Amino acid sequence: MWSLAPALLRAFDPETAHRLTIRGLSLGLHPRFRQRRAEPVARLFGKDIPNRLGLAAGFDKDAEAVAALAALGFGAVEIGSVTPKPQPGNPRPRVFRLPADRAVINRYGFNSGGHDKVRRNLDRLNPNQRPPLLGVNLGANKTSENVPADFALGVSRFADIADYLVINVSSPNTPGLRDHQTIDALARILDLALDARAQTTPTPIMLKIAPDLADGDVGEIVDLALDRGIEGLIATNTTIGRPDDLQSKGPALSESGGLSGQPLFARATDVLTAIREQADDRLVVFGTGGVSTPAQAQEKVRRGADLVQLYTGLIYGGPALVKPLMSAVSKPSKTEKVTGLNQLLDEHRYRGLIVDLWGVMHNGKAFFPEALEALRRARQRGVQVQFLSNAPRRAASIASMLADMGLRADAYDGIVSSGEESWQAMKDRSDRFYADLGRRCFHLGAGAKDANMREGLDYDFQDEIAGAEWILNTGPAASVDLGEWLPLLKTALSAGLPMVCANPDRVVMRGDSKELCAGLLAEWYEAHGGSVRWHGKPYASVYRTAREAMGLRRHEVLAIGDSFTTDVAGARGAGIDVLLVNTGIHQNDLDDDLMAGINRLSDEKGVRPTFAADRLQF
Ligand SMILES: Cc1cc2nc3c(=O)[nH]c(=O)nc-3n(C[C@H](O)[C@H](O)[C@H](O)COP(=O)(O)O)c2cc1C
Repeated sequence: MWSLAPALLRAFDPETAHRLTIRGLSLGLHPRFRQRRAEPVARLFGKDIPNRLGLAAGFDKDAEAVAALAALGFGAVEIGSVTPKPQPGNPRPRVFRLPADRAVINRYGFNSGGHDKVRRNLDRLNPNQRPPLLGVNLGANKTSENVPADFALGVSRFADIADYLVINVSSPNTPGLRDHQTIDALARILDLALDARAQTTPTPIMLKIAPDLADGDVGEIVDLALDRGIEGLIATNTTIGRPDDLQSKGPALSESGGLSGQPLFARATDVLTAIREQADDRLVVFGTGGVSTPAQAQEKVRRGADLVQLYTGLIYGGPALVKPLMSAVSKPSKTEKVTGLNQLLDEHRYRGLIVDLWGVMHNGKAFFPEALEALRRARQRGVQVQFLSNAPRRAASIASMLADMGLRADAYDGIVSSGEESWQAMKDRSDRFYADLGRRCFHLGAGAKDANMREGLDYDFQDEIAGAEWILNTGPAASVDLGEWLPLLKTALSAGLPMVCANPDRVVMRGDSKELCAGLLAEWYEAHGGSVRWHGKPYASVYRTAREAMGLRRHEVLAIGDSFTTDVAGARGAGIDVLLVNTGIHQNDLDDDLMAGINRLSDEKGVRPTFAADRLQF
């Protein structure tokens, strides 16, 4: 019946249809998609959420149907905008459908029951009626003489009951509100809001911005958010723009107000991408605007959304839309089996590859010819190739090793290595950990092979652990037994020596046999209380270095690797798609049935590759 409801409701004017929907929901006339014991998919603001789908603000402005919306299964429900005093909003009609564009224009103008009413409604909720994450979106009264104070009042009033708060300066329907998106005005609003929060519960604060801001303004807002230390941004509210390619005709098109739905998707997603690019993981970002299909919801996640919100999609799709969207952003979606790189370049238009060496390109002894050919042809298509290696050696020495194995430097665009990153950090010492290291270093390394890690640095490298102030760990040569190293590590532990680990790998395959790496020693050391600074995969900074070398954004890049713990965990952590190839470390663990093995390992390791293939080939 519910799949029919949107069609039935369209017989009413949009506002009446909406009132009926809220009424129906609050009376319990709705399907329940919430799974009883759903596995958490993510943690947001310290709470487990079962999926990354959220209901955007404006749907339930006065918190009248929160329990029903939670029962629909949303991972998050954002109520409001709520203004301090009750206000009626603009005269009706104030909502207009543009069905040909699956869009809506609204100029409600913050019709709100006010803080008191909304607070009462929230207070009435039982804990088990709450959504996994409850957001309260704050607005300012139309007649307010002090807009920043209105937001601060909202923070004081709702911080103890909300899981997150939203400062909404981006509604186009309250005269002058958007003027508060200038940096100075925003700074004042955030400062007052943060002062108010300091007096109450430390609930996360998000700022919701308009899609109509110039790119440069978005950049400044990201800087401000980071500088003031609010938790995140919501991209975006409705637009005052009217894109040229709107299909709708008729009077609704000339109504003033904010446009939402399908035509907003592209711009809102661009703003989201830009924020994520600049903020990296330092901000939580919600992707809002134009989502009505599972593919669009997934695209928002791919562009860096921690939560995908929707509103207008529901007007056209009804509650039946919730379930497919929810599952699209629930589990890390299934790993897709692929045969060749060509298919991925066609379908996803990647413009750069971040490629692991050992286990993907070679086995420590010889290159895999098909892998070389795959990269050659990808580059012919204009795709850049950066090798990303956890070798504890400088990039130049990896280049010469590749040359010795027969791969010329003009066959790729660059090399990023954990060794190079460690060397740079030891050299510039701007980081506190490095600034505090003494001069005397014991190098736990593979002799001449790692010697260039010591060159050009102002430390005294010594061969004895006695008297050393710290350890550079590049991994022992040709060792298979951790036990051999325990006496030395215990001595270092008792002397409290910090360790730099220039290769987080635990083991590598040399030909058909396993060899232990620096990471295994560092792991033991850290587990026993030692202080370790790690460089390389899976830590995100090496991915950023590789991406920046290519000048590409996350969604334009594909990582290729052979290991769950370094390549898959690293790429996923850095927000990058990843192809796992089975020519390296997991060769012996993955059964004859590659995908069954991938599924088993994904569950075991808690990370899942985007794609999997038997080997790297074009
Ligand atoms: C009828 C309507 C009312 C809205 N009211 C609010 C609101 O009170 N506060 C707010 O922050 N956003 C409000 N929004 C904006 C939505 O939360 C959302 O940011 C925007 O519609 C884009 O998402 P969509 O394309 O999925 O609808 C409203 C949107 C619509 C369509």
